[in-house]
Parts: sequence; C-alpha cells; structure tokens
Amino acid sequence: MRMYDCIMKKKKGEKLTSQEIREMVSGYVKGEIPDYQMSAMLMAICFQGMDQEEITELTMSMAQSGDMVDLSSIPGVKVDKHSTGGVGDKTTLILGPIVAACGVKVAKMSGRGLGHTGGTIDKLESIPGFRTSLDQKEFFSIIDRVGFSVAGQTGNLAPADKKLYALRDVTGTVDSIPLIAASIMSKKLASGSDCILLDVKVGSGAFMKTVDEAVELAKCMVSIGEKCGRKTIAMITDMDIPLGCAIGNSMEVAEAVETLLGRGPKDLYEVCIELAGNMLYLAGKGTIRECCSMAEEAVADGRALEKLKEMVEAQSGDVQVIQNPANFEKAPYSYEVTAKKDGYVTHMDTEKCGIASVALGAGRATKESSIDYAAGITLRKKTGDAVKQGDVLATLYASSKGLFQEAEALLTKAYEIEPERPKEEPLIYAKVT
Ligand code: URA
Repeated sequence: MRMYDCIMKKKKGEKLTSQEIREMVSGYVKGEIPDYQMSAMLMAICFQGMDQEEITELTMSMAQSGDMVDLSSIPGVKVDKHSTGGVGDKTTLILGPIVAACGVKVAKMSGRGLGHTGGTIDKLESIPGFRTSLDQKEFFSIIDRVGFSVAGQTGNLAPADKKLYALRDVTGTVDSIPLIAASIMSKKLASGSDCILLDVKVGSGAFMKTVDEAVELAKCMVSIGEKCGRKTIAMITDMDIPLGCAIGNSMEVAEAVETLLGRGPKDLYEVCIELAGNMLYLAGKGTIRECCSMAEEAVADGRALEKLKEMVEAQSGDVQVIQNPANFEKAPYSYEVTAKKDGYVTHMDTEKCGIASVALGAGRATKESSIDYAAGITLRKKTGDAVKQGDVLATLYASSKGLFQEAEALLTKAYEIEPERPKEEPLIYAKVT
C-alpha cells in the first residue's frame, strides 16, 4: 500500500479497501506514515466521506491498535455510556450510580474536557483524593464489588485515536461524521462492555449543530456497534441549552448529588432517567417504561446516592463532599451577570457558556493548563425564562477578579433576550436503535 495512492483515491471519492485502511492506521501509529500525509487523507475524508463499510473498518483498526479490554471475567452484563460532549453534562455521575443501584454493572473509561466541553475525569478529580488512574485489576474489582467505576483512559486504549485526534484538532478535520464515529466507537469497542448507550448531543453547545447531523452520526455509530456484536442505542438529546444549572467541576458534582437527592434541575433529572432507563433496557432488565420506573425508584429511595458514595470511597475520594457538597472548597470571588433589558431568554449560545467557564479556570486553555476545580458558573436563568432588566442571569466564580471581564462579555453575548417567549424544544429529539 502506498499512502500517496490512497490519498489520491479518497480525493477522487473512491472507496478504500479494508487492507488499505488497516495498513494506513497501523503505519500511522508506528510512525511510518508522516503527519502531512495523514492530514491530507483526513481532509480528503472530510470532503468525500466514507461508506459504512469503510467507517467500520477504520473503527476496528483504531480499536485494535492498542489493548482490547476483556471484561468477561466480571459476572453479569456490563453497560457503557458515551456522550458526544456538552456543557454542564454531568450525566455520568448520575446515571452510573442509578444503573449500578438497579443491579447492572457500569464500566466507564472517561476523558478530560475537550475545547468548550467538560470531561467526567476532571469533574471527579475535583473530589479531594479521588483517583481516576486505576490499574486493570483495581478497575475490575470496583466494577465487580460496587457495580460502577470510572477510570481515565489508559495510554494504550485506542492509541490510533489519540494520535489521530491530536492531528485532527490542529488540521481542521474534527467535524467529519465518519471520523467522529470512528473516534468514539474505537474507544467504546476497546473498552469491552457488552452494551453501549450513546448520548448524541445536538445544538449550540454540541459538535453536531442540527438534529439531521446528529441522527446521521447516531445511525453510523449504532451500525458500527451492532456489526461488532455490541447492543447499541443512541439517544439524540438537547445541548442547545446547558444541561442543569452548574458549569464547572466541583459545582457539577454538587449538582449531581442534588439530582440524586431528587432536588436537581428538572431537565437534568429527566434526561438522566431516560438515559438510565435505556441502559437498563439494553441490559435486559425489562421494557423501557419498567426500566425508567426502576431508575426513578433508585433515586427516590436513596440507593443511587449510596452507590455514588460507595464508588467515591472505593476510589479514595473524600465522601464528606458527597454527604454535604457545601464541604467543597469555594472560589474566593463571585460576580453577577445581569440582564440589560426586559423580555424572555429566547436562545443561549451554549458553546459561549462553555468557553466562559474555561476563561474562569474551569477548563484548560492548553493541554498543559491546570484546572481550578472551584471555578465555574451557576445559571440563574435559561432559555424560556422571563427576565427584567437588572435580574441576575448567571453567577460567575473564580480565583481572581481579573478573570470575570472576559467571561462576563461572553455570557452577555450568549444570552439572547427578546420580547416573545420562545417555543419549548424537547429534551430528547430521537432514539436510534
Ligand atoms: N469525541 C471523541 O471522542 N471524538 C471525536 O472525534 C469527537 C468527540
């Protein structure tokens, strides 16, 4: 296989063979194919696309470029969940405990924040002492004993994706459905669960901006999962409005605890019950309605919150902050962003809200930056709410007053206020099976 010939083929919109795709991925991981040739190939894929057979082959080659975790030594069905990324998306911290409390094991390998979107590992590391670096033995033992564990991705899980993602990030080739599907599904296949629930986010805070694009990505990923023998469902959920009211690491853990206490924001609770219900359904626990009721009961009777505590304890985290989130260290400064006119919040640019939280220190400006776990935003008003001039739209939290100016400017632009109340959009747009 000559990489030059493959680039020319894809540039003309022709189909790559399985062997060409396999050799291209392994050659790139070994360093035999240089970045400049792979960049040209990625750009050709962005313009010409790939068919489902090519995407599945690319996914399998990327998954098999490193360790393929074998969870079969842990008894019972193991379910994984993946969100395509959003703002204020703390669903894993709520779903994992709910599903485990209902007797289904959740083995979750998570990543850190990416761009304007937050990452579960960063949120969990805001719990003092919490360890996300687990060796396989300990990860398996916590899943078996507690029913739920979240670990950081090991260096050798889909290394092809790691290398390709870093290249895509700097060559303008992230927003391609075949490349996103292969990236996500390679990690899910390598992680070893029997069933996969995909939460495909759509809207101003998501990588997919329209429902049609989100459905296309969802269908593509579900087809890969099924072809590879994993039961897979995708839910298309709203990310045109941040999920819940908290954006920022320890603030999101606190909101997850409130939700498990039954006192969380309605949108977050509803999405979590639906996603948890579908995870239980994938594991064969009953009909969707029965599974959603099971999820609600696990919250109502406190079993899900107990599971979260057990998991935090097993991973050496300080359970006191889960028992009472007021024990989290607070940011020393706060600032209120206010409405400049009367009306209704008709739209929120959710990506800008995410960027504002990064500007406050809740995310990384560069790969090497450290995170301020206490920094973030509490949204006091969201799309659909009526506001009067001077009302607080959001409260910002940071370690220094100097960080407020940029975040305030971003949030002021993020909120659109108009005289007419907007039409209410669904939280869940579609389900792809
Ligand atoms: N998340 C991933 O893991 N990969 C992508 O390409 C996009 C979002």
